[in-house]
Amino acid sequence: MSESPKNDRDDVTGVETTGHEWDGIRELNNPLPKWWLYTFYACIIWSFAYWVVMPTWPYLSTEGWTYTKGVIGYDQREVVTRELGSIAEGRADEMQQIATLAPEDVAGNAALMEVALAAGKAAFGDNCAPCHGSGAQGSWGFPNLNDDVWLWGGTLEDIRYTATHGIRWEADDNTRQNVMMAYGRDGILARGEIADVAEFVLALSRQPNDAEAAARGADIFGEQCVTCHGADGQGNRELGAPNLTDAVWLYGGDRASIIETVSNGRSGVMPAWGGRLDAGTINALTLYVHSLGGGE
Ligand code: HEC
Ligand code: HEC
Repeated sequence: MSESPKNDRDDVTGVETTGHEWDGIRELNNPLPKWWLYTFYACIIWSFAYWVVMPTWPYLSTEGWTYTKGVIGYDQREVVTRELGSIAEGRADEMQQIATLAPEDVAGNAALMEVALAAGKAAFGDNCAPCHGSGAQGSWGFPNLNDDVWLWGGTLEDIRYTATHGIRWEADDNTRQNVMMAYGRDGILARGEIADVAEFVLALSRQPNDAEAAARGADIFGEQCVTCHGADGQGNRELGAPNLTDAVWLYGGDRASIIETVSNGRSGVMPAWGGRLDAGTINALTLYVHSLGGGE
């Protein structure tokens, strides 16, 4: 700090100066306050102790980046795992009952229902939200699970079946299965016929349409589509065929989207969860989805 071995003393205060001088102003060499100095030393000692005790330094080992673990081996991930474990343990009795009882019976028990809805909500966020949305509101190609419009049905049993076996999920023998043909790609209908039947679908859903083409389309609909969508286009839940007369569309209800659906088919896929989630979690999910507003 000092620039000359023997610095001057300031006349007014009698304190030694550092030798620094700016425009005639000289810096006094006052000692640091004791409290500050001791806090500073304490921090240094603390930081050394911390390095030894806690995980601190990253380093490159032969297996890649790792870090010093510290003598007490503290690990936040372990703490979280332990906490989650004790939550699960606290709920183990309830989850056991939720797994073995029919969802209807769980629904009749307020205490069990509380646990089921919480567990269902958490499992939904982990497994279902990527497709159905965090609020189960759905999006293009993925159905909204809050409303009372159902492809395959909205009773507890329907929902549980769908969640367990999935839809068009090849790896599950009992998956919900039904595939609408690709009428254009497979050469079942000509372009003009597809345009006509699309006009009829527009008419079914009370949208503006070309009445003449729709009349021709009605005949095609009667030949090709009623087996799944029903004579009046109201759909069929046994087959997962959507109602075409409402304003709810999975793939869009405008002319171009309908033509695309009929030409190439859609065949949305929903995974089966039976093999991946335990029975209690599936039942909890069932009750949670059922509670969202559209449950039947
Ligand atoms: C990979 C995307 C995906 C994931 C993940 C997913 N689903 Fe689905 N789900 C779909 C699709 C696509 C459909 C519609 C299939 C169809 O066309 O019938 C569907 C349909 C459903 C239906 C039937 C709706 C109806 O109207 O009948 C239910 C119930 C359902 N899903 C529940 C769940 C639950 C519960 C989970 C989480 C355990 C989940 N889904 C996870 C894609 C997904
Ligand atoms: C073998 C049964 C089957 C037949 C026959 C069938 N459909 Fe479908 N249709 C379905 C299923 C199942 C879906 C659900 C979408 C999917 O494939 O994932 C669907 C979906 C649709 C959709 C989309 C609805 C939406 O919400 O976006 C339209 C439009 C449609 N069908 C029109 C037709 C027309 C027009 C015909 C006749 C030319 C027809 N379907 C014949 C089973 C059928």
